[in-house]
Amino acid sequence: MSDISAKAAEAFTAAYGEEPAGLWAAPGRVNLIGEHTDYNDGFVLPFALPQRTVAAVGPSPDGTFSVCSTLAPEPVTFGATEPGEVTGWGAYVAGVVWALREAGFEPPAARIAIDSEVPLGSGLSSSAALESSVLTALIDLGGLDVPLERRPAIAQRAENLYVGAPTGILDQSASIRCEAGKALFLDCRSYEIEQIPFDLAAEDLAILVINSNAPHQHVDGEYGARRKSCEESAAILGVAALRDVSVDGLPDALDRLGDEVLRKRTRHIVTENQRVLDTVALLRAGRVREIGPLLTASHVSMRDDFEITVAQVDVAVETALAAGAYGARMTGGGFGGCVLALVDTARADETAAAVTAAYADRGFTAPTSWVAVAGPGATKL
Ligand code: GLA
Repeated sequence: MSDISAKAAEAFTAAYGEEPAGLWAAPGRVNLIGEHTDYNDGFVLPFALPQRTVAAVGPSPDGTFSVCSTLAPEPVTFGATEPGEVTGWGAYVAGVVWALREAGFEPPAARIAIDSEVPLGSGLSSSAALESSVLTALIDLGGLDVPLERRPAIAQRAENLYVGAPTGILDQSASIRCEAGKALFLDCRSYEIEQIPFDLAAEDLAILVINSNAPHQHVDGEYGARRKSCEESAAILGVAALRDVSVDGLPDALDRLGDEVLRKRTRHIVTENQRVLDTVALLRAGRVREIGPLLTASHVSMRDDFEITVAQVDVAVETALAAGAYGARMTGGGFGGCVLALVDTARADETAAAVTAAYADRGFTAPTSWVAVAGPGATKL
């Protein structure tokens, strides 16, 4: 049993005085490319991290739900709630229960204990990992007939409407639908997916993830502001979402927008969607190294047009490229968080060391780096 599985099971027994009925795990994610495109009905290409959240779950004797974690061993208990009634981290769990009911499924009353190795607040979807582990557990435990393709939207509704974060469907889709050794090509309008082979080790390549450890600032407000600008642009252009603007149609769209901020936001989304499609085409053709320039172009677009990077992530990208990375970009919502770099496996350590040295030079908090291999999606252990 892995360390976090054992710890989740121990936390369960300590809180509830019995063994859990089972253990369910769901991963965090990195998004290879396609940032802020999800709520524009566009394309994303995440893969699941090996780091996971484990939910130890068993039936509840009294019809209520209880949840605790290794960080918060005192259980939070709730019954049927409406958004706003459970706050703090328990809201993610109460939100999943609420969203299942709202979707017409009756989750079984359950006791839950959580442990996680997904770094919190680092843009690696620790919240989606929590939602997805609990959702999968409740579906299995209750024998609920919820098709896999419906599950991400249920977890997303928990986050949007119960927790109150206006996010898209990227994170929950990645945590639930990713497969080991694959990147998940997702059309966020149709929810159609394609599992793209992503075995970098066979090419002596690696994705180095560099957690900038930069303090997340203004994340919620800025995220909402970006989303609003995109919706405003789509309304002015008379399209359902910016997904409907093609790269060929971009010059005309930019003329019609006028406002400089809306022009920049739109340019990012339209070019980013195309970069996802181009990345997928290269991966399908086995031309992995060639995705590097697309990753870097994505970063430049996030830095200059979407304006969601901070000095720490820009320095990590520049340093990784100077150390020989084929490409590098921030991954996730922005304003801190993680950078990913496509590197020769043999150079991963020295690239990480170069970034650490660059951070020390600038007086930044030290980064944390590791090679990420695409892991499995949510599952019963
Ligand atoms: C956060 C959100 C996702 C997505 C990304 C940016 O992770 O939760 O829905 O919008 O930011 O790509």
